[in-house]
Amino acid sequence: MIPSLDPHIEALTRFAEAHLTGEDDEGIRIKLDHSLRVLDNASAIIGGEAIEGREAWLCRMAALYHDIGRFPQYATYHTFNDRESVNHGRMGVLTLRRLGFPEPVSGPDARIIRFAVAQHNVKTIRPDLRPDIALPLKVVRDADKLDIYRVMIDNFCGDNPDPLITHGVANDPARYSETVYDKLMRDQEGDYNLIRYTNDFLLLIVGWVFRLHLPTTRRLVVERGHLPRIFALLPDDAPIRAFRAKVDAFLGA
Ligand SMILES: [Fe+2]
Repeated sequence: MIPSLDPHIEALTRFAEAHLTGEDDEGIRIKLDHSLRVLDNASAIIGGEAIEGREAWLCRMAALYHDIGRFPQYATYHTFNDRESVNHGRMGVLTLRRLGFPEPVSGPDARIIRFAVAQHNVKTIRPDLRPDIALPLKVVRDADKLDIYRVMIDNFCGDNPDPLITHGVANDPARYSETVYDKLMRDQEGDYNLIRYTNDFLLLIVGWVFRLHLPTTRRLVVERGHLPRIFALLPDDAPIRAFRAKVDAFLGA
């Protein structure tokens, strides 16, 4: 019997809402909403990859709890910028250890969930992970990125990008950093430290497509039309068109 997710959804919601203060609550609401959407995305990926039973349950649990560290992070530091506060993946593991789960979870299952929480935000994962540990982690990382595409598009389509989401970098729609662009064109990992403009953010997240773990996620990115919407926000110049051609070729779009 696969346990229900409902008590966990309730527990995470209660935990998030316990951080509402009546002022400056936007960050808490954004991350609760994000957590539930990442769970939905995980379910879509699980369906596409035909993951079943306990494996599917572990993927959903990891997705639901992946950002639990965001609530104490925001309550304490009023930022989602890990470099200015704490690593929210690590904070998530500490939080899960402190709180425990609302229903009994076996030791090995709890370790797999905590590992996915700890590693969901690292740049790259080790290639030699055991498959039963690697799969929930890959599903969470992909499901997370799918929702961040949505958040970023919603945010940048408005007139005033929310500094909570953009970490306050300059919003100059005509400019982007050559260093960020060059790294992406040379297939190197994007670097948050190089971000100077909001367009750099957009370029960096487009570059994530090359590092999605699962074919279903790549298909969902195409189906949901995230990338054309992001490219519509970027300057229409030859270098950006070349990058777009590279991305389209990779996705077979
Ligand atoms: Fe996260």
